[in-house]
Amino acid sequence: MACGAPAPPDEAATASDRRDHHSYANPEAVRVTHVELDLEVSFADRTLRGSAMLSFERVEPDAGSLVLDTRDLHIDGVEAWSPNGGFEATTYVVGDADPILGAPLRVELLPAATRVRVTYRTSPEASALQWLDPGQTAGGQHPFLFTQSQAIHARSWIPLQDSPGVRVTYGARLRTPPGLRAVMSAANDPDAPADGDYRLDMRQSIPSYLIALAVGDLAFAPLGPRAGVYAEPSVIDAAAAEFADTEAMMAATERLYGPYRWDRYDLLVLPPSFPFGGMENPRLTFATPTILAGDRSLVSLVAHELAHSWSGNLVTNATWRDFWLNEGVTTYIERRIVEEVFGTRRAEMEAVLGRDVLLAELDRLDDPDELLHVDLAGRDPDEGMTQVPYEKGALLLRHLEEQAGRARFDEFLRGYFDHFAFRSITTADFLAYASEHLGGDDPRAGAPVRLEAWIDQPGLPADAPQPASDAFAEVERQAAAWSVGRRRAGELETGSWSTQEWLHFLSVASADLSAERMAALDAAFGLTGSGNAEIAHQWLLAAIRAGYGRADDRLDRYLVGIGRRKLIAPLYEALSATPSGRERALGIYRRARPGYHPISVDAIDAILGWDERNPG
Ligand code: BES
Ligand code: ZN
Repeated sequence: MACGAPAPPDEAATASDRRDHHSYANPEAVRVTHVELDLEVSFADRTLRGSAMLSFERVEPDAGSLVLDTRDLHIDGVEAWSPNGGFEATTYVVGDADPILGAPLRVELLPAATRVRVTYRTSPEASALQWLDPGQTAGGQHPFLFTQSQAIHARSWIPLQDSPGVRVTYGARLRTPPGLRAVMSAANDPDAPADGDYRLDMRQSIPSYLIALAVGDLAFAPLGPRAGVYAEPSVIDAAAAEFADTEAMMAATERLYGPYRWDRYDLLVLPPSFPFGGMENPRLTFATPTILAGDRSLVSLVAHELAHSWSGNLVTNATWRDFWLNEGVTTYIERRIVEEVFGTRRAEMEAVLGRDVLLAELDRLDDPDELLHVDLAGRDPDEGMTQVPYEKGALLLRHLEEQAGRARFDEFLRGYFDHFAFRSITTADFLAYASEHLGGDDPRAGAPVRLEAWIDQPGLPADAPQPASDAFAEVERQAAAWSVGRRRAGELETGSWSTQEWLHFLSVASADLSAERMAALDAAFGLTGSGNAEIAHQWLLAAIRAGYGRADDRLDRYLVGIGRRKLIAPLYEALSATPSGRERALGIYRRARPGYHPISVDAIDAILGWDERNPG
């Protein structure tokens, strides 16, 4: 295991805080600063093949080896470059593979060496790569490839120091089948001819988990001078309409927190098997098509991924223990952007929905996993992706805002981004900076910002902020009237309800949604036919619990058509609650599984106890 970077003098973290339990790399001795890729994208054998040339700095002048992370890579050779001898084959050894971490690649370095070049190819099972057949795309004609490197999957397609405490610039030469376009978390050129030969550069330094690639039949539509969207041709118009507020979101975030430092902000709409809602790959957010609701009602996801351009991509969690610094700060900023662009009413509804899912999650989690500074040593860091870093983290920021007052807190966050820009920091660094800048007038008064109850204790502190929504109070009145029989379903005043109000209604009403009552709602509002993926999710969850058979077909199509883990896993879980439901789930899963991303496959396999050798 390796340590993270030595703490710069103005940071508060100790070496043990900065230690990254999820990387074998040795950046404390030799630090990679640039990655140069030369890769051929072969759909025929689901392989990336080529080389990665890594430039590095010696932190310890006499360091004798460079340790990289790998997973399931086939290494063909390693050369080291030195000013006198050029590239020469060098000694290297691939260590034993750990199921979570992969295998270290230790490269011996002669004193004069400043770069190494690893020639390699990926495995068809590489955890970061999903290779889609044409049938899994919107257009149905061309294959598609995309990467998902967060948290520690970059090592399955590039041998590198796969730690969020190490930042690199990168460049890539890519060869793809002609007609397909390659895009990366880099300076993309929508006007480049789709001739299968691409050169891309990323000049801003980023952690490895933000290196990203997608290859497919992609069209582009501008959204404004600095923003645009890539999607398959049949999806591009819907995507451009849905994301029309992107420039306004950028302007709002800059007003609040300072300049957007990444030049352009583009989005890429992926095929439906993308396992997440969104991924903040710099300059090119990856997004699920399930947010294309047709009414811009789910674009807080764009606000979220855009917010990561400040929290996460600019100021980065130094280790996965500090993940809340990425996601909590981002969720707080996401709501501020939504407030600026869509108003307080919508932002508060989303804050209440966020708090509700947090409270439900806290009911399920064990105490140690409820800490913001969560211990993930020995575990897959993807296990840290609960509501805690997101929603408890956002409430912590809101708590600080309430304490300091909005104007002062906004100034604080803006200063925080300037101060730590393009660096990776720990929870201790954040706390020290907050104490210094949000404490009382007298900095000698000790640590005036007391956040131990947030950071190191389970649950929510008693003085946690209480988001509240008048709009939801009205929804609750309607739900109550229907519940006691004062109104029939068709008489509910839902005329102007937004997606958020419907979601809250379904969650409040779910306590007594029998099949009969669902039929009444369905007759009045056609919910089984809802094209909104979030509303459909809530509705189908209720349908499973109530045994509402008229939604059976819709459930089948939903689970086969969408691979976003957050939307499908709870449905499989609900089905598994009864033996007959579980049978049904297995039947659907048998058809759906080949189309799912490995991240979703892992989750659903675990829920259903699916054994690949002995399916169903
Ligand atoms: N960075 C995350 C996605 C992620 C986290 C991937 C950890 C792998 C490991 C991204 O910004 C995110 O939070 N996406 C959310 C959507 C958001 C609106 C809460 C998602 O995908 O659900
Ligand atoms: Zn996020």
